[in-house]
Amino acid sequence: MEQLIDTGKMPVGVVGLGLMGCSITTCLLMAGHPVIAVAPLKDDLKHATSRIREHLHTSKQEKLTVYPPDHFFSRLVITEDYSLLADCALVIECTIENLGIKETVYRKIESVISEDALLCSNTSAIPISILQQQTKYPLRFFGLHWAEPSHTTRFLEVICGDQSDVNRGEFLYALSHHWGKEPTLVRKDIRGFITNRLMYAMYREAFNLVEKGYATIEDVDRACRNNAGYWMTLVGVFRWMDLTGVAAYNTVMKDLFPTLSNQQEVPELIDRLVKDGARGVTNAKGFYEYTPEEAKLWEETFIRFSYEIRELALRYPADVVKKQLPEKQAIRNAI
Ligand SMILES: NC(=O)c1ccc[n+]([C@@H]2O[C@H](COP(=O)([O-])OP(=O)(O)OC[C@H]3O[C@@H](n4cnc5c(N)ncnc54)[C@H](O)[C@@H]3O)[C@@H](O)[C@H]2O)c1
Repeated sequence: MEQLIDTGKMPVGVVGLGLMGCSITTCLLMAGHPVIAVAPLKDDLKHATSRIREHLHTSKQEKLTVYPPDHFFSRLVITEDYSLLADCALVIECTIENLGIKETVYRKIESVISEDALLCSNTSAIPISILQQQTKYPLRFFGLHWAEPSHTTRFLEVICGDQSDVNRGEFLYALSHHWGKEPTLVRKDIRGFITNRLMYAMYREAFNLVEKGYATIEDVDRACRNNAGYWMTLVGVFRWMDLTGVAAYNTVMKDLFPTLSNQQEVPELIDRLVKDGARGVTNAKGFYEYTPEEAKLWEETFIRFSYEIRELALRYPADVVKKQLPEKQAIRNAI
């Protein structure tokens, strides 16, 4: 669903320049938007410029853009001043997952933007219907759920809350095609949206297998990456069942579903780690042990991989067969 939209004439604001705010800013810049990037805490200013520059630099190397970072920096303002958001047609909030903090941030944003500007949150799991209650004009409020690194991934969920105007949701859905996304529009709010509901069902079972001693963390990870990891970039779960035999899934579900974990509490294993200060590769302390060098190399490897998988995924867009079939038929007719 492409609409004629001139991104160059549509300034976008990003509030929160942590991990995701920086990659979202990069994505919007490469899509042509002028961007006002607001740092709610001074701390963000220490890394935002270098992080965005690095993303842009690698994106040029990887041919996601033909322009050097300086081209985009002329269209980017990094500031602590919320009032510079005044002309933005869309503002994306990207602060930590805390309702009180997000509410304070919305108050600051809404005191400067126009009534018809769109306001969105990159929340992972706070229901949009709850967030929009904290705003002055709930109907212009949506979830825009990105996947890290936002400038390479095709994933985006546009989520309507109970009070959101679905027409504006459709506009955001169309706009996000200009950001290189293959988005989904979630028309009715549900906690966790689509992808987190799917992923957390898997996380819960992974903890169940480890905590009950059926397998180690390493074994669960190995099984996951070598099974689902091989097909998930090409197809989703329903197409996967079509590819591998629907009837068999029907049979297996009858016996397997009753044995899957439906635990309501947060697993003890992750609780203990977090209480011990684990943050993952960020502080070299997580489900695995890391030296600082290993942790850094994992971060770099993930970034490198995300560019490579993107390239592969672009060769296999959604409905790839529907796209390929006319070409194959034309070749056959010509022979
Ligand atoms: N990390 C991911 O992979 C991911 C994926 C999807 C969605 N999200 C969501 O994106 C949002 C940001 O996540 P992130 O990973 O970029 O986090 P981050 O920790 O890297 O950045 C957090 C941001 O929150 C701001 N912040 C912290 N305390 C604040 C305060 N008291 N007042 C105002 N701002 C404050 C910081 O300045 C920073 O800009 C969260 O809602 C998160 O759930 C994250």
